[in-house]
Amino acid sequence: MSSDWLVLKFGGTSVSTRQAWENIRSILERRQREFPRSRILVVASAVSKVSDQLDGLLEAALQERHLEVLDRLQERHRLLADELGVDFELLCDEFRELERVSTGVALTREWTPRLKARVMSRGEFLSTRLGAAFLGVAWQDVREILTSEPEAHAGPARHYLSARCADQHDPTLVDRLGQSRVVLTQGFVARDPAGDTVLLGRGGSDTSAAYLAARIRAHRLEIWTDVAGMYTADPRHVPNARLLRRLDYSEAQELASTGAKVLHPRCLPPVARYQIPLHIYCTGEPELEGTVIASAATDEGRVKALSTKSRVTLVSVESEKMWQQVGFLADLFGCFREHGLSIDLVATSETNVTVSLDGSEPLEHGALERLELDLARLGRPRITSGCSSVSLIGNKIRSLLHRLGPALELFEEEPIHLMTQASSDLNLTFVVDEEQAPRLMSSLHALLFSASDDDPLFGPAWRKSPTTPVQATWWERRRPELLALQTELPLYVYDSETLRDNVSRLARLSTVSRLYYAIKANPNQDILRLFGELGLGFECVSPGELERARLLFPEHNLLYTPNFASRADYEAGFRLRAQVTLDSLEPLELWPDLFRERELFLRLDPGHGKGHHKHVRTAGPQSKFGIAPAELERARNKLEELGSRVIGLHSHRGSGILEPEPWSDTALFLAEAAEHFGGSVRVLDLGGGLGVGERLSDEGLNLTALDEVLQRFQAARPGFELWLEPGRFLVATAGVLLTRVNQVKTKSGKTFVGVDTGMNSLIRPALYGAHHEIVNLSRLGEPNAILADVVGPICESADVLGHDRRLPVTRSGDVLLVATAGAYGRAMSSSYNLREPAHERLL
Ligand code: LLP
Repeated sequence: MSSDWLVLKFGGTSVSTRQAWENIRSILERRQREFPRSRILVVASAVSKVSDQLDGLLEAALQERHLEVLDRLQERHRLLADELGVDFELLCDEFRELERVSTGVALTREWTPRLKARVMSRGEFLSTRLGAAFLGVAWQDVREILTSEPEAHAGPARHYLSARCADQHDPTLVDRLGQSRVVLTQGFVARDPAGDTVLLGRGGSDTSAAYLAARIRAHRLEIWTDVAGMYTADPRHVPNARLLRRLDYSEAQELASTGAKVLHPRCLPPVARYQIPLHIYCTGEPELEGTVIASAATDEGRVKALSTKSRVTLVSVESEKMWQQVGFLADLFGCFREHGLSIDLVATSETNVTVSLDGSEPLEHGALERLELDLARLGRPRITSGCSSVSLIGNKIRSLLHRLGPALELFEEEPIHLMTQASSDLNLTFVVDEEQAPRLMSSLHALLFSASDDDPLFGPAWRKSPTTPVQATWWERRRPELLALQTELPLYVYDSETLRDNVSRLARLSTVSRLYYAIKANPNQDILRLFGELGLGFECVSPGELERARLLFPEHNLLYTPNFASRADYEAGFRLRAQVTLDSLEPLELWPDLFRERELFLRLDPGHGKGHHKHVRTAGPQSKFGIAPAELERARNKLEELGSRVIGLHSHRGSGILEPEPWSDTALFLAEAAEHFGGSVRVLDLGGGLGVGERLSDEGLNLTALDEVLQRFQAARPGFELWLEPGRFLVATAGVLLTRVNQVKTKSGKTFVGVDTGMNSLIRPALYGAHHEIVNLSRLGEPNAILADVVGPICESADVLGHDRRLPVTRSGDVLLVATAGAYGRAMSSSYNLREPAHERLL
């Protein structure tokens, strides 16, 4: 028998502004009208970003910088209290506690997971104190109603920061909640049997709400968040994703466990146990229908969704001894248990076992290294980090395998590290390099879900119009002007408004103090002039680039990062007053006089490259760039001898990176390296590499998320200036290549649209398999009717601009537009076959 309780959970963005709390008030009023006999337990998270700041507080305390972080936290809550018309004094005790603990850490120079839990839990106490006062409802300390159940093999990090609780119904709990119709309590927090505060790990607020719903046997649980439910894929990365109206518990569990971020996987078992329906709604748009998770209605087999998880680590052990050896796997898994590591996926062969660990839980410090040592007793271990998993979820997945071929073609060159199929037949998972996951997701989604499928299971697409981008692109708006350029084809055309817009988007990053445009992406003089006028500095890699920038802007800041450069190259850098970066120590030995008494930057190799293709990953042992961290001491001694100082450190991992974390990882890596130089380093240059979407519907790197991870870095390691040197991000979307159709040929059933320029103008498809959208500009808006390869006139089979493109009926003389061609287009062109590449024009 369920009780008359209803549990509603609101996440960080749903409690961060007055508007958000007013939405909560009206949602509560509506539920009270709909369920007049119900009482409501509201579970709330900390104000958005506050948990991250609290997370950085103790690290900051180690460097006695905690007061800065505390000031920012107070400021944030004072603003919210003022907005809500609530007395800020209400929060005094919480802030006093935070100050006490962080000052203690500053004195003792150490913190423990137990202290961290005490500190981080304050975020929820702060938000719920304000919220309860604003709503005029009862406030409940969640530690009086939720107790953790310690696990046998959990270390302190897991015990305090990722605790689990019992989910059995507890009939006495309802009495402890008093008589109020609405009670507000904290998510994410509980206490352990000894009375200490513990946290429930990432996504812990959902989990708290689910535990509480089970313990009071609520008749309904609602999770209010910033998306309207579960989708066929993460709509932030796959904008055509469709809403899933209904899922059963096991499918939702599978989806959440394989990476769907809307719900934390741990929040499903408690509600499934008591068959409590779980609804997901969007706080900002409460009228949207949302997703309901309940018992299965039917048992049909189909793929319902795709999910992806990053930060996956693979551990494999190779050994000839394992074949037919009794107990080998037990010993192997025992090692993971010893080190408190939980295994996610498993694949085995006669001589190899590979498992994945997921990165969502904090690992004990050094756990992987210890595991590797242990595993070496059983065979040859290998650890590969920086992977992502991509999973297909739904009943009877096996029946679909034959349809996946085209989506996997992409992986001819890129390895699929692991493929597993769940024995439940509910999921099929691929593990690939992190940077390949977005491409695999979007091609699988296009293959498996149609935007026009009218199955009632699917609700509206996140973006209503799936094939055209939400906003018209600049080239759709300026089509008449583009078509008027017919006589100048082939031609690269750049849009100055988009260039300006790209600059201002990056200029809004609160964490980055200087931007340098990486000229190599597009050295067009008009573009350089525009960027210089907008205040950007320039990042150069050759004397040619330096001279071009200096000629245009005698006083602008220049960075110079040449690779395997000659003495004359370095001389040019100093002569043209650029900040010189050394990416090898060799020049110091070869030409010491040149580097005497200089202020220098060093380019370091962070050990792991990233990027859209292996040719553009510029770090790691196989890469020719940068100085290895092991050489830092040598660098310091050498430079001291010469009387020179290192004032900045630089790393560039690669190009076309779509996740934010690599930049904060780089920042942390550089901040640690800076310690070798006794305080002289004040700049960390995080390189370029900011990715843009290849397809019109792709979002590209999320700059808000980038700013967030860098804020987190700055909270933990204040005192450095952060610089970026983006190339692609500033110019890619602002450029298109216009080319005319020479001939259309059909041969053995395959159609080729041959245009007047190819790899001599744009080599990226041939070199990296890069995707550029292609449209027939002359016939824009006409329905697609043919499937063709768009090829150039060069005598190479690789001379292709796009494979299998859908186009309207296309004829000789039509103008085709190749999109997102502003970066590394003209810059990498050639006169191969003595065919002049496309010229350029800035609109
Ligand atoms: N800084 C350094 C040290 C670099 O080596 C590069 C690019 C950048 C900044 C700018 O990276 P971006 O923000 O543009 O990703 N041709 C390839 C890209 C090669 C990038 C080389 N280095 C392509 O077409 O994708």
